[in-house]
Amino acid sequence: MNEKFSLKKTLLKSGLLLGVLTSLLHGSNIDFPKNYKDEVLYFKNDRGSITEEVFVDKRVIEKVQNNQQIPIGTVITLVEYFAKDKKGADGYALKGDLKRFVVMKKEPINNDTTNSGGWIYQAFNPNGTIKEENLNRCVSCHNSAKNNDFVFTFDDIKNFRLD
Ligand code: HEC
Repeated sequence: MNEKFSLKKTLLKSGLLLGVLTSLLHGSNIDFPKNYKDEVLYFKNDRGSITEEVFVDKRVIEKVQNNQQIPIGTVITLVEYFAKDKKGADGYALKGDLKRFVVMKKEPINNDTTNSGGWIYQAFNPNGTIKEENLNRCVSCHNSAKNNDFVFTFDDIKNFRLD
């Protein structure tokens, strides 16, 4: 193995370690939602240079539509793409390259010091590695959706037509 190669490997390893440490510090344990495409795409939006799709498990939609609470363990995945300069048939800007994933997960409320209803937050790069973000911003902005269990698109879940 030449030196350059082993240096690269070391850097790669310390990068991974840093990612793990950061996630520990943030107290977050959201895994990259690699199977999000198996869930229901219930909401689309575009704003400025971004076009987005939001996914949640079908059973969560069924529960919410039966007036039950969003269950503990629920993961909601928002996928952001760079928007193309053209609208699709659905009226939203066409998707370009993936930008990032923002994910929230509902945990049991025990020592919930952030007043976030048990929700924790994480951002991921397109390749699934953790993306550094100020997660306190997620908490504080989503707090304004408190009346809808911290989920801005709660009504979209409620009104989504499942086949
Ligand atoms: C300044 C306000 C703001 C901040 C900061 C913010 N969000 Fe959101 N988030 C929204 C809004 C508004 C929506 C509704 C979808 C839309 O209109 O884009 C949303 C939607 C979501 C959704 C889909 C479920 C829902 O609530 O509708 C997830 C998941 C999410 N955000 C995760 C995150 C994560 C993770 C972070 C931090 C990295 C974050 N958000 C930071 C405002 C914010």
